[in-house]
Amino acid sequence: MISEESQLQMIDELIKLFETYGSEKYDENISQTEHALQCALLAHQAHATDELVAAALLHDVGHLLQLQGSNGNADFSQDDFHENLGANFLSSTFGPNVTQPIALHVQAKRYLCSVFPSYEAELSEGSQRSFQLQGGPMSANELAEFSQNENFDDAVNVRTWDDLAKIENIISGQFADFVPLLKRVATQ
Ligand SMILES: [Fe+2]
Ligand SMILES: [Fe+2]
Repeated sequence: MISEESQLQMIDELIKLFETYGSEKYDENISQTEHALQCALLAHQAHATDELVAAALLHDVGHLLQLQGSNGNADFSQDDFHENLGANFLSSTFGPNVTQPIALHVQAKRYLCSVFPSYEAELSEGSQRSFQLQGGPMSANELAEFSQNENFDDAVNVRTWDDLAKIENIISGQFADFVPLLKRVATQ
């Protein structure tokens, strides 16, 4: 159990991260804030649990952490492991139903591209570029192992919303709209 003060500190930190780095595009055509909000909205529209909406909202927070750690410069020539960075960062305040789909959203892309051959072609250019760096298609063993993961469904759902949440010039509210939900799902 963590104190309410630590929970609020984390939520303040998230607000600041999105305020400071959310306008960056990070190898996509839309800003990280717009991407996060569209992803959360798609989860909400699909009647996802609050925890899964939070996962959708925060799935790329690792990108913001990387921008913070590199003075706004990102290196797209190697795998950034942003999924682990984000999940580890959030794990002090959010449980596995939030952090695991985040940790697995890159694996879920590899899964979807392996199982559905047309999926890769429909990815954004940035996502296609990172796909090879992240390992490309899964082997048969990786596919079998991933599909047995207890967070498999949530991870695939987050990934599907992630890939749809890249529509330019659509405003989907603001990060502050989700603060009450984040407070609800912060670990009690
Ligand atoms: Fe991502
Ligand atoms: Fe994303």
